[in-house]
Amino acid sequence: AYRADDEYDYLFKVVLIGDSGVGKSNLLSRFTRDEFSLESKSTIGVEFATRSIRVEDKVIKAQIWDTAGQERFGCQFTVPISPYLVSVFFDCSIGRPRMLRYRAITSAYYRGAVGALVVYDITRHVTFENIERWLKELRDHTDTNIVIMLVGNKADLRHLRAVSIDDAKDFSERESTFFMETSALESTNVEDAFTEVLTQIY
Ligand code: GTP
Ligand code: MG
Repeated sequence: AYRADDEYDYLFKVVLIGDSGVGKSNLLSRFTRDEFSLESKSTIGVEFATRSIRVEDKVIKAQIWDTAGQERFGCQFTVPISPYLVSVFFDCSIGRPRMLRYRAITSAYYRGAVGALVVYDITRHVTFENIERWLKELRDHTDTNIVIMLVGNKADLRHLRAVSIDDAKDFSERESTFFMETSALESTNVEDAFTEVLTQIY
């Protein structure tokens, strides 16, 4: 039967989280536009993109949110802006105060999310170590039923691997999340990672 482009049965909000540079924005652009950029800039603020997929006889529209992974573990100070205390984040890696995001929007970012891709870079072990903190923030701000996929991205960089598949699998089992390795560059498992989350939500 004919369906208009914007017709759907379900709308699911999915958030991307993980350290800066792990490839969140490229996973998003690969899934929604089939695009990849080697020189992508760190995300500023919040972006989102949508794509609809079919599961059984239903159309599921995914609204995927993406933000910079840096600020929450980066440089930060808190200023009183009545009536709130607002944390201002800086990109400390470039040594110059570039305001990235207000802490105040963290809850808005997670609000209503029913799925999450929690991303690390298989070549940088510290990004895997930080997953625990990302999971905590995610669970503090979302419903317990949220579907979580642990994603080890940049699987194409085999020679630089710093996180083993076994360690990641063990961790994901302990944390009761799904797990997949992906490559946004080679387009490996990107489709599957998003589709699995959306199917599990459904
Ligand atoms: P923030 O917005 O700062 O949080 O970073 P991000 O997680 O959105 O990372 P982004 O998508 O901007 O990618 C960072 C860098 O990694 C870019 O140079 C990408 O080209 C590169 N990259 C992303 N995915 C892959 C991948 O699967 N393989 C390889 N080799 N490089 C990748
Ligand atoms: Mg980004």
